[in-house]
Amino acid sequence: MRVGAELLKAEGLVRRYAMRRGMFGRSVELRAVDGVSLTIERGRTLGLVGESGCGKSTTGRLVLGMETPDAGSVAFDGRPVPPPGTAAWRALRARMQMVFQDPLGALDRRLPIGVQVAEPLDIHGIGARSERAARVESLLLAVGLRADQGARYPHELSGGQRQRAVLARALATDPALLVCDEPISALDVSIQAQVMNLLVDLQERFGMGMLFVSHDLRAVRQVSHRVAVMYLGRIVEEGEPDAVLQDPAHPYARALVAAIPHPGRSGRRTVLQGDPPNPADRPSGCAFHPRCPVASARCTQDAPTLKRRPDGRMIACHVAQGDAAPGRGVLAEAA
Ligand SMILES: Nc1ncnc2c1ncn2[C@@H]1O[C@H](COP(=O)(O)OP(=O)(O)OP(=O)(O)O)[C@@H](O)[C@H]1O
Ligand SMILES: [Mg+2]
Repeated sequence: MRVGAELLKAEGLVRRYAMRRGMFGRSVELRAVDGVSLTIERGRTLGLVGESGCGKSTTGRLVLGMETPDAGSVAFDGRPVPPPGTAAWRALRARMQMVFQDPLGALDRRLPIGVQVAEPLDIHGIGARSERAARVESLLLAVGLRADQGARYPHELSGGQRQRAVLARALATDPALLVCDEPISALDVSIQAQVMNLLVDLQERFGMGMLFVSHDLRAVRQVSHRVAVMYLGRIVEEGEPDAVLQDPAHPYARALVAAIPHPGRSGRRTVLQGDPPNPADRPSGCAFHPRCPVASARCTQDAPTLKRRPDGRMIACHVAQGDAAPGRGVLAEAA
């Protein structure tokens, strides 16, 4: 298994949902994910960031095959992910695990955590029964819990300890891929850094590829080898985290970076103008154009595609790609 080799490849993923407008309104189509392609490498982390509702969690579910895309494909280890619910998919699920935001919700309150860490081993028939206790113990130790804490129930642990227990359970089957959806946002700020460091340590030790979903760019930078910025169902910029954070190219990525609070930096932070996006009412052309400070006439009509720059950065923006002169922004022009 070579670190950096391709583990998962998603191409052109589309996921639509039917949504009622108002209580008695007609059903309209909402495109939660609208043409997402991404690659996750072995032993490496792809960070996925963007505002609430931009389609991050949906992308995570599509990648794991928990939902079937309306278009596009996902290949794991070079083979298509089988349809959800089939025996082949269940077997594959041992190799792809998910960690969610809320550890308490992810755990069964009625069972000690040691039993829950052992569960995936039972389900997938991994190892002899006699070896399981030792395996559970080593997993608990790997995530920084004590072996005796395996006897505790979820409510007898702190939030950080619970998320460690969830990680131990996710790692029980030795997965090649871990999808972490906002794994730290329910935790206390002081605990967040510990869990982030733990994720980095665990990746070094277990070598899994990760998709790390978060709205927190700084958290993404800490754990990711690449970062993809999503806006309204599409990836608008992708590159190395340090490069994207230091020199974001897409106007939306710039706004996200500018909005990061810096201790000691006073003054106003740049805040995105315009309404938050609505996936059921996607603007024409570039979906970001109504809020973009540099949108030009072309941006209102023509949707930019994600293109690779010579330095490897991927950007979907006519202005940043040099295909349109910067305008003054649609709001400014309308005023
Ligand atoms: N099962 C569903 N049925 C209908 N609409 C859905 C469903 N799941 C998600 N959506 C919609 O799809 C869009 C994308 O949702 P998603 O949960 O992927 O966003 P997200 O980026 O993870 O947001 P957050 O940061 O708030 O978790 C949203 O507008 C959401 O309301
Ligand atoms: Mg989400």
